[in-house]
Amino acid sequence: MRMSEIAIIGGTGLTSLKNLEIIRREMVRTPFGEPSGPLTFGTFSGHEIVFLARHGYGHTIPPHKVNYRANVWALQETGVKHIIAVAAVGGIAEDLMPARLAFPDQIIDYTWSRVNTFFEEGLSAVTHIDFTEPYCSELRDKMVAAARKANLDAVESGTYGATQGPRLETAAEINRLEQDGCTMVGMTGMPEATLARELEICYATCAVVANKAAGRAEGKITMEEIDACLTGGMEKVRTLLETVIPTL
Ligand code: HPA
Repeated sequence: MRMSEIAIIGGTGLTSLKNLEIIRREMVRTPFGEPSGPLTFGTFSGHEIVFLARHGYGHTIPPHKVNYRANVWALQETGVKHIIAVAAVGGIAEDLMPARLAFPDQIIDYTWSRVNTFFEEGLSAVTHIDFTEPYCSELRDKMVAAARKANLDAVESGTYGATQGPRLETAAEINRLEQDGCTMVGMTGMPEATLARELEICYATCAVVANKAAGRAEGKITMEEIDACLTGGMEKVRTLLETVIPTL
């Protein structure tokens, strides 16, 4: 099997990575089933990385059906030490404008009935991982520095509220999330972050604001609006990745 230390998990809007020179694709089997698709190994800005499309390469797997355990396990099997998780979010705080990048530093988990641990069978002792700081600060700091260097005007902290989906939220739910302290909302941040921590992989999220969260802008949220904002946002993600990867 090919090995790589840096992984990018692409979310909605990033099912493939432009400028990735593909070396090979490999389907990895795990004790937890199959990942969302084959791992794509290649070079990006001269560095070897592995890419995985979270929702599958055809974007067909909804957030609550993603096999998060298989995805994270497969990446660890290939020697991955760092995961940059790219994720589309709705902006709750005023400064989280569509197409802006954000690097959350906290999470509140509102998901339910997702398998959220590797530590459930065949244990010699019950394990409780520390999750005070849910993201790897070393990787987060490097992304923040890279965004500054590339003049990307990113929001450098924030709290990611992880909702179950696949539907978007009600306006009242967004008000509740805001009262809880969430500045952005997405559907895939958990349990991905926990699972990476359980395997001691350095994991951080690069969020891309796709829309203003429910009730924060006039009218309905449409998929057309989300797609249009993500197209602009993903150009910034590519610049970010080109700047940060050489520093890892
Ligand atoms: N809510 C939840 N997840 C999302 C949103 C949203 O508004 N936009 C993109 N992912």
